[in-house]
Amino acid sequence: MTKKLYIKTYGCQMNVYDSTRMGDVLAPLGYVETDSPQGADMVILNTCHIREKAAEKMYSDLGRIRLEKVAQAEAGKKMIVAVAGCVAQAEGEEIIARMPYVDMVVGPQSYHTLPDLIAETERSKQSVTKLDFVEEKKFDLLPETFHPQGVSAFVSIQEGCDKFCTFCVVPYTRGAEFSRPLEAILHEVKAHVAQGAKEITLLGQNVNAYHGLDKDGQEVTLAALIKKIAPLDGIQRIRYTTSHPRDMDDALIAAHGEVKNLMPLLHLPIQSGSDKILKAMNRKHTAADYIAIIEKLRAARPDMAFTSDFIVGFPGETDEDFEDTMKLVETVGFMTGYVFKYSPRTGTPAAEKENQVPEALMDARMRRLMDYLAEQQLRFNQRMLGTVQPVLVDREGKREGQWIGKTPYMQSVVLENAVHYNQQMIDVRIDEAYGLSLKGEVLHEI
Ligand code: SAH
Ligand code: SF4
Ligand code: F3S
Repeated sequence: MTKKLYIKTYGCQMNVYDSTRMGDVLAPLGYVETDSPQGADMVILNTCHIREKAAEKMYSDLGRIRLEKVAQAEAGKKMIVAVAGCVAQAEGEEIIARMPYVDMVVGPQSYHTLPDLIAETERSKQSVTKLDFVEEKKFDLLPETFHPQGVSAFVSIQEGCDKFCTFCVVPYTRGAEFSRPLEAILHEVKAHVAQGAKEITLLGQNVNAYHGLDKDGQEVTLAALIKKIAPLDGIQRIRYTTSHPRDMDDALIAAHGEVKNLMPLLHLPIQSGSDKILKAMNRKHTAADYIAIIEKLRAARPDMAFTSDFIVGFPGETDEDFEDTMKLVETVGFMTGYVFKYSPRTGTPAAEKENQVPEALMDARMRRLMDYLAEQQLRFNQRMLGTVQPVLVDREGKREGQWIGKTPYMQSVVLENAVHYNQQMIDVRIDEAYGLSLKGEVLHEI
């Protein structure tokens, strides 16, 4: 008998990956994924705790899920409501205290226990909580089958973080850093390729700190892992995210010059261009260190492009500190970047600081930085005009016959009458460039 499973995912790519794995764990129990909570037998909210807004969103969605649960109960049906992810890990039992209709709260390291938790809540008719950072690693206990993810697949290779940036909850919600063994990753990559994947994105909260073991118990770096994946049949593109500047070692930098199918785009968060703020954030690198890494990468591969994350309004950030960020953005010349207003998170050191920045000032800084990054993005896109780019077509566009693909730089390219190129790599001449997308003409299949 099939049952309907609705999973809503918030936050980062790691959560997107985890949601696919929760689907894999529950498939043997007859759960089939659906795209709405209406009529679902089970709803999982896979949550994010990184900023206050992310957590609030989950609570407002839970309110709506409750109404569906009540409606189903009136019709004599039971819907199981689970809260998973980083809010689950951070708030635990509190979620059930606040929302008693939540049947289970399950932390990111315990997804392999979902079938047991379902049995337990059905048997005891009580809510259950599972927040262990288990000894036996969850990856070993998750099923050997993997949801087909399409032409572009994500594989988690590393989890957790030991960096303790003073603003960030991740070390608390995901726990200590841990790398998966090489063989398990290669097995999973091959499974995705067999199911049609041509692009593999390796994921981790600190992906370039990867240090998994091979069959002989020897440590393997991210550079070495990439070199194992690159020659596999069918792999056309490799990406990895998210990296920390401190772990950008020489071997990884060199790999960008050596490995053809490693894409020339790197997301490398810096957060701030001010050394004073970087120090207060416990980033353990300076703006000059960051620029030196960018220069080395450009020397290894001249067509490298970069994106980054920025936090504006970290406690104690002055106008001068913010100008340092603007200067850094000018010096590096990013493809684009993501700007966040500092959000104080309970339990992190920065939240205790007295010198919090007023909201209006944060808003103004955010606007200026976003506008500047949007300008850089438009210029970057315009440089593509007239060039021929390899494009991997991965989704349908809004209008009839339209398809959308990605360049090596993750730019979306809109193509007309391209239905037969779905899931293919094609050469496209770029004819139009906008802030967030490109348009082009298909030349031929590659
Ligand atoms: N591991 C990655 C990213 C983690 S979270 C890294 O080291 O950079 C993704 C982004 O969210 C961060 O890069 C940061 O810019 C932002 N972020 C994290 N905590 C935040 C907070 N308390 N307030 C605002 N933005 C935050
Ligand atoms: Fe958070 Fe810093 Fe770890 Fe990134 S490196 S996950 S920002 S603590
Ligand atoms: Fe959010 Fe957790 Fe990812 S806090 S950003 S879902 S690691």
